[in-house]
Amino acid sequence: MKAIEIRNKYLNFFKNHGHSIIPSAPVIPENDPSVLFTTAGMQPLVPYLLGQKHPSGTRLTDFQKCVRTNDIDEVGDNRHLTYFEMLGNWSLGDYFKDESIAMSYEFLTKELGIPAEKLSVTCFAGDEDCGKDEVAYEAWKRAGIPDERIYFFGKDDNWWIAGEEGPCGPDTEMFYDTGKPKCSEECNPSCGCGKYVEIWNNVFMEFYKDKNGYSKLKQQNVDTGLGLERMTMLLQGKETPFEIELFAPVMDKLVELQKVDNIQSRRIVAEHLRSSMMIINDGGRPSNVDRGYILRRLLRRMTRHLNKLEIDLSKLPEVIDTSIEALKELYPELEQNKETIKTVIIEEKNKFVKTLQNGEREFEKVANKTKNSGKKVLDTEAVFNLYETYGFPPEMTEELAKEQGLEVDMSDYKKLFKEHQEKSRLGSEQKFKGGLASTGEMETKYHTATHLLNAALKVILGEHVHQKGSNITHERMRFDFSHGAKMTDEEKQKVEELVNSYIAQDIPVERLEMKKDEALALGAEAMFLDKYGDIVIVYKIGDISIELCGGPHVESTGKLGHFKIKKEEASSSGVRRIKAILE
Ligand code: SER
Repeated sequence: MKAIEIRNKYLNFFKNHGHSIIPSAPVIPENDPSVLFTTAGMQPLVPYLLGQKHPSGTRLTDFQKCVRTNDIDEVGDNRHLTYFEMLGNWSLGDYFKDESIAMSYEFLTKELGIPAEKLSVTCFAGDEDCGKDEVAYEAWKRAGIPDERIYFFGKDDNWWIAGEEGPCGPDTEMFYDTGKPKCSEECNPSCGCGKYVEIWNNVFMEFYKDKNGYSKLKQQNVDTGLGLERMTMLLQGKETPFEIELFAPVMDKLVELQKVDNIQSRRIVAEHLRSSMMIINDGGRPSNVDRGYILRRLLRRMTRHLNKLEIDLSKLPEVIDTSIEALKELYPELEQNKETIKTVIIEEKNKFVKTLQNGEREFEKVANKTKNSGKKVLDTEAVFNLYETYGFPPEMTEELAKEQGLEVDMSDYKKLFKEHQEKSRLGSEQKFKGGLASTGEMETKYHTATHLLNAALKVILGEHVHQKGSNITHERMRFDFSHGAKMTDEEKQKVEELVNSYIAQDIPVERLEMKKDEALALGAEAMFLDKYGDIVIVYKIGDISIELCGGPHVESTGKLGHFKIKKEEASSSGVRRIKAILE
């Protein structure tokens, strides 16, 4: 079965069980600078898991484009991916454990045809925060899983939360038995030896965790996630995702182009290319901070490994074409945006080739310094610095050193590398956590201020103004919009005054649900049209502003305080950027 068939079967199955199919959110979360990427299907649904009413109802299903970059350096092995697609179904205070488990079992065995004896499941063993999950256990027994294939584990295995704070709960996980021999007497789904592969996770989200501990949510939710690439690989009897139709043509193309054989490098190129394309397609661009930096790292690592395979870099467009061809059935948007995607990747590749040259110069400096001081060994810090700053893999530094009769000291490299990894991991966890908790009072005010600013810019500069991006922290807002020229001081002052007059009028902010077409007919602003389902949420501020938006917003504009523009500058060609604060 191909990935597209699995996806379609999944969405149809849940549709037939009363779920509304909602579109995937972009991999770059909209209006939320505190989260790097969308990492799970539940992430865009957090407000609804917490009790807000979803316009598409209480049973939802979708495929979600996800990026997880904590293990970026592991990619190249036989399983890690930075981009993956998660199929999911949700109950927002609708069905709970029994129905969720019955549906999962039916889907796996009947729709996908997985023999029941290949399935093992795990449930929550219970602790002081939450009891043993007897309900899930009984549901699995009823479905037909015998006792010996039902396991119980504690929070480490059978509890799901994104980061440190947020909606959470016990989960039940489904595992596929690959038929490999047991690794030991105790071999079980949590041992990680590879005999059992996790295929689906159903989280029974009825708690909220914050620094004070656990509390019950308003409603009992179900949040499930099934990794599409992994399921496709298992159903096709393949050992790695790189052998399925989404990657195989690229892997073959690389074999055709390579002068040196290296399967890890081929996997890294194929994987990082796909991930980068998905990020670029949703508006990401390489830079030195946050998301942009991750994209840069992906593209640079890809380029380094193209070099390692000794592939002529002028062939990169062919590799991109092959990858898009393999993915376009799942993501037709890649084909539509092919030219932009290619341009961004190739420009970044060209920049990196220059950086590599700078790195070589830095290497020469370090090598000369080492030689001049009478040493024969490059110290670990220098090797690490070349990796971190110039993207030089240690093997490359070692190779260059050898050519100069030098050795490299790698004794502490692992330690430095681990520290570095730990730092970036902490960074991303922090980001994720921040994202979920980021609907604080100030952020909410800035959300509303963004709509007012958008409206005021249209009045003062003209109807050509549209939102091109937005970034909010609790301290300030940043707003990108289409406009061809630098704003004059007078224009800035007028915009500021107009926004402040909207605030002074204390206009109510209304949340409306309506058909997408209706909203567009009313002239609602919408930045990512594809993102929304047929029924949309619209925020209307008197006659001043109407925008498709997930919120949250303040009840009336009077809550905002005083609006002040701090800066107006170019963002990119034809796009200006305003930084502003509320005082
Ligand atoms: N949120 C859970 C996960 O990411 C289930 O979708 O595994």
